[in-house]
Amino acid sequence: PKVAVAMGGYSSEKDISLQSGKVVSENLDSDQFDVYCVEIIQEGWFHIGPNNERYPIDKGNFGFDTPNGPVIPDVVFNTIHGTPGEDGLLASYWELIGIPQTSAPFYQAALSFNKRDTLAVLKQFGINTARSVLLNQGDEIDTSKIIDQVGLPCFVKPNRSGSSFGISKANSHEDLLPAIEKAFTEDDEIIIETALVGTEVSVGVYAQGGKPVALPVTEIVSENDFFDYEAKYLGKSDEITPARISDEETLMVQEEAKKIYRLLNMKGISRSEFIIQQGIPYFLEINTTPGLSSESIVPKQVRTAGQH
Ligand code: DAL
Ligand code: MG
Repeated sequence: PKVAVAMGGYSSEKDISLQSGKVVSENLDSDQFDVYCVEIIQEGWFHIGPNNERYPIDKGNFGFDTPNGPVIPDVVFNTIHGTPGEDGLLASYWELIGIPQTSAPFYQAALSFNKRDTLAVLKQFGINTARSVLLNQGDEIDTSKIIDQVGLPCFVKPNRSGSSFGISKANSHEDLLPAIEKAFTEDDEIIIETALVGTEVSVGVYAQGGKPVALPVTEIVSENDFFDYEAKYLGKSDEITPARISDEETLMVQEEAKKIYRLLNMKGISRSEFIIQQGIPYFLEINTTPGLSSESIVPKQVRTAGQH
């Protein structure tokens, strides 16, 4: 089959996605697949040819020219983080033109990309979450009231974003307004949550024969105040797989991640983050196109799983 590896995107996560896409395109078995790199970026949609030449994509059928003639892909491997690859926009486009793709369907992607709405849905099913408040751009900001609701310290996050862009931790009342302003540079909706105290863990889940399977759990230890962008991509964190938690906690987090996968009727590979506070996992978020670069968590979990 002809596989288009879609990478790039329109968000701050573009460069990370290009790394994920490169890793995926290099690791797809060339005996089984004809692999075509496709960049979907602000400047346009292009197939990147063997000598880096750019062939524009026909948005009517996702087809493109190659040195060996025109191609319409049979399937898309989606490695776009952030909009439009992780929020359902491209998933609905590919569905409409009839090309299957590897990540979540449009609704699952759109819901999961909205942190506030995902938390609200999962809370209904007994999933533990931190207390949180949502603000839309233009809302009146009463920092005292927010602190009454979520306490200090708290995290301020863009509601729809990834890779920790725009996230900060407010340790004091004075920190809160600048943190809010920073988050609003990434999104016009922001979420402010209680900072939980415990072990941060991340777990990939995929489906096999319709049943969710959890990968080994990764523990995230950050040199910085939290797992921010620097920590994630500039080596200022340790990601330890398997996590240094008890077997019971490992199992509990994996069961919780699988339950969330089922509750959301997820497809493809996703990765959920939790904080284990006093033995209880609190769900933070789910990523439907998790990073697949050589430094990313899911590839490490897969390597660890492969060692058993
Ligand atoms: N949003 C980044 C790419 C991740 O979840 O790995
Ligand atoms: Mg994320």
